[in-house]
Amino acid sequence: MKISVYIATSANGLISNSRNVPDWLSPEYGQGMYTMSQKFKAVIMGKTTYNIIAPDHLPLKNEGTTVVLTTNESAKPDNPTVKFTKESPVKIKQMLESEGHTEAVIIGGATTISQFINAGLVDEIYFIIEPVLFDSGLPLLKNVTRELKLNLLQVSKLNEGTVQLHYQVENN
Ligand SMILES: NC(=O)c1ccc[n+]([C@@H]2O[C@H](COP(=O)([O-])OP(=O)(O)OC[C@H]3O[C@@H](n4cnc5c(N)ncnc54)[C@H](OP(=O)(O)O)[C@@H]3O)[C@@H](O)[C@H]2O)c1
Repeated sequence: MKISVYIATSANGLISNSRNVPDWLSPEYGQGMYTMSQKFKAVIMGKTTYNIIAPDHLPLKNEGTTVVLTTNESAKPDNPTVKFTKESPVKIKQMLESEGHTEAVIIGGATTISQFINAGLVDEIYFIIEPVLFDSGLPLLKNVTRELKLNLLQVSKLNEGTVQLHYQVENN
């Protein structure tokens, strides 16, 4: 199965600002994340990201699988697609495959993306680069222990200021 990352960054590569308020994200980022989630019907995120977007902004509402990494597996899901798990990235991939999924998208945050990258399980990355610079904030990667080589597949201008870079990971 193919796993993609879909993530918005500032022009200097940070995925959230020090205020931790997502008012810098364009509507095009939101639409792209929703469209990809609807297409794949399989979404992966960490519990911190889930706590920010659930229940109103979850991209899958009634069908598909929303995998949320958390050590608190007894938490109550906000809708029927949500599965809380503390399984490894390899096990999560196997679980999605056993449900018949052929593609999945990771929508954040840094901790979750980094674990899938370390496990060699990220096939493609979409960076949505918003026209802002942050003095501090959250870098995309955390404790990543390897270097990735990327193959640029497509550059798209999403609006006057927002660019999308679509990469394939060459060395999983
Ligand atoms: N720019 C963007 O596109 C974008 C998108 C999404 C999020 N963000 C930002 O990213 C930030 C959140 O990222 P983050 O890295 O702090 O958190 P995260 O990856 O969203 O979630 C981390 C949490 O997931 C759970 N978790 C992670 N790995 C686990 C494992 N192996 N086993 C069990 N549970 C595991 C833990 O939850 P428990 O504590 O419950 O165990 C952990 O605290 C926010 O500031 C958000 O605004 C930005």
